[in-house]
Amino acid sequence: MATVRTSIHGYWSSRFVFVLAAAGSAVGLGNIWKFPYMAGENGGGAFVLIYLISIAVFGIPVMMSEVLLGRRGRSSPIHTMSILADDEGRSKAWQLLGLMGVLAGFLILSYYSVIAGWALSYVVDTASGTFSGVTAEQAGEVFNNLVSNPQRLLFWHTLFIVLTMIVVLRGVSKGLESAVRILMPALFLLIIIMIAYAILNGDFFAGLKFLFEPDFSKLSPDMVLKAMGQAFFSLSLGMGAIMMYGSYLPEDASIATTSFQVALADTLVAILAGLAIFPIVFANGLEAGQGPGLIFNTLPIAFGQMTGGLLFGTIFFVLLVFAAWTSAISLIEPAVAWLIEKFSISRLSSSIICGFVTWFVGLGTVYSFNTWTKIEVFNGTFLEGKSFFDLLDYLTSNIMLPLGGILICIFAAWLMTEKSRHDELKIKHDGAYKLWRFLARYVTPIGVIFIFLHVLGVLEKINLT
Ligand code: TRP
Repeated sequence: MATVRTSIHGYWSSRFVFVLAAAGSAVGLGNIWKFPYMAGENGGGAFVLIYLISIAVFGIPVMMSEVLLGRRGRSSPIHTMSILADDEGRSKAWQLLGLMGVLAGFLILSYYSVIAGWALSYVVDTASGTFSGVTAEQAGEVFNNLVSNPQRLLFWHTLFIVLTMIVVLRGVSKGLESAVRILMPALFLLIIIMIAYAILNGDFFAGLKFLFEPDFSKLSPDMVLKAMGQAFFSLSLGMGAIMMYGSYLPEDASIATTSFQVALADTLVAILAGLAIFPIVFANGLEAGQGPGLIFNTLPIAFGQMTGGLLFGTIFFVLLVFAAWTSAISLIEPAVAWLIEKFSISRLSSSIICGFVTWFVGLGTVYSFNTWTKIEVFNGTFLEGKSFFDLLDYLTSNIMLPLGGILICIFAAWLMTEKSRHDELKIKHDGAYKLWRFLARYVTPIGVIFIFLHVLGVLEKINLT
């Protein structure tokens, strides 16, 4: 049995580059755009608490399992699962886990790109002074004008897909490494500047209270599901992106340490983004639960009023685009790598095919914000009132990613031999190894299934709770 395989797609030049790339994948719109509006819609503190717990008890074990499988298989998630199933004498059907991941990646990127397009458009708006001295109402108008115009959304969505595919077709290390090295630290710095503004000019205390004072009356099965889904989404887990990146990880790097560092960086950015945004929301009497437009309706007010806002604002949206860019790459890389392996086509052809499919599916999201705001066929079902965007988001974050996460844990912590997983993880401390195994064996699968059943109302029906 070959245990040390080689990757045909290349390697990271060091462990540190893997951390940067994985953090680049994790930190993105999920932290800066989605986390604040989800927290806002779901009542703040209680959501944040469940989100943090999910990162610790599901996120870190799943991330370690995903990197473990990826590094051992050294291929795209579909092939990795097929190779490992062979190694361990398990059913070939495990490939389907990889396939579900590739599908989830397409679906997520299709709408991710539309939102990244908003950020692109805001670079131009901010740089051209649209927001100078803007009121909350005017900022809202700018946002509405954008999303109500399908042509504009389409333009930016197309541009973003093209940008993403350009990096992907250059391959892992050339395309990605250089981007993440400088941009991630710069983004961090800009968020700190935003927080300084929020402390000086926003209602910082109200923001703190909203994010960290849990109101447990807001707890509901659906909210817990969303907080858990957000943890998976934000850490890029459950679809094979981290598995793919793990397959480029040098043999001697510690999986546990790198996973911790990535999870920590990602969580920190989300919390800091919340701290930058909510003080401005409350100081301007805006609605915390307004949904996906939250940061686009809020931050421009701050940029419009602060000294140097034109410069800071422009840099901020540029960095947001970059953060989205480094995440987008990881959403499509598994599909691109798989097509190359499967059909022996070039990276260029594979990138073009994947880019086109994603772009096309993205049209559904482009129209979700203007002419096609509800999917009619769902009338009368529990999905009534959802748009195509809502549906994709719900299906991927709350169902596909957690499901992928459980399956990854089951394979790594139950179905591989003790020797395989132990050799690959290389954790020297026995207690730490056992803790990972316990979380991945029991806590993650049982916890996620418990939440699923709750949402479906099964537990309530059989009077278990
Ligand atoms: N984590 C990214 C973000 O927060 C999005 C992302 C990139 C992702 N790759 C992923 C989400 C894989 C789920 C799965 O913006």
